[in-house]
Amino acid sequence: MRQAAPGYTLRPVQYRDLDAVISINRQCLPENYSRWFFEHLAATNPRTFLVVEHGGQVVGYVMCRMEHGFSYFKRGRIVKKLHIVSIAVLPEHRRKGLGHALMVEAMKEGRAEGAQEAFLEVRVSNTPAINLYKKLNYKIVSRISRYYADGEDAYLMAIPLDEEHAPYLAS
Ligand SMILES: CC(C)(COP(=O)(O)OP(=O)(O)OC[C@H]1O[C@@H](n2cnc3c(N)ncnc32)[C@H](O)[C@@H]1OP(=O)(O)O)[C@@H](O)C(=O)NCCC(=O)NCCS
Repeated sequence: MRQAAPGYTLRPVQYRDLDAVISINRQCLPENYSRWFFEHLAATNPRTFLVVEHGGQVVGYVMCRMEHGFSYFKRGRIVKKLHIVSIAVLPEHRRKGLGHALMVEAMKEGRAEGAQEAFLEVRVSNTPAINLYKKLNYKIVSRISRYYADGEDAYLMAIPLDEEHAPYLAS
């Protein structure tokens, strides 16, 4: 457990948080998942499913999945990758550094679990999120045509979890 910003605590998800997480997901994003999916990721990837709490209420989360696949940076190499599946912060709690803190902590935990890279998909129109990922030194590695159900394209953004690209993970 640690402070994400004054008055905000960052900690691993617990089963009792899932209703709040699902509610935040529905309020903030058009990409919604079944309750089973949230439960499954909390059970299988507990270290990289994190919440931010304020005054006893969950106000943000990040949910990830560890995967194996081709490296985005080292041609032909199979690596362990942290997939940032979903992240959201309630509107009234944004621009306080919570999204940044959730990302950094998930990436630290992912690296501790052996991930060499992290990646995510983001709507090409989602400037706040793209700026957050760019601030963390993620790079756009491809554009996925019509990735979302409404036909919008996604950027696939990724970063090697090493000292050179993510020096902030050392602190
Ligand atoms: C994306 C999101 C999680 C960011 O959360 P947040 O707590 O507001 O982010 P932070 O306060 O940590 O911001 C970190 C950086 O992100 C960028 N950023 C965040 N909000 C932004 C905005 N509205 N406009 C432009 N840049 C923005 C900035 O670079 C910011 O750094 P700065 O405050 O020093 O300028 C939040 O906007 C959100 O929940 N959006 C809806 C859900 C969503 O789109 N999730 C991502 C799906 S891929």
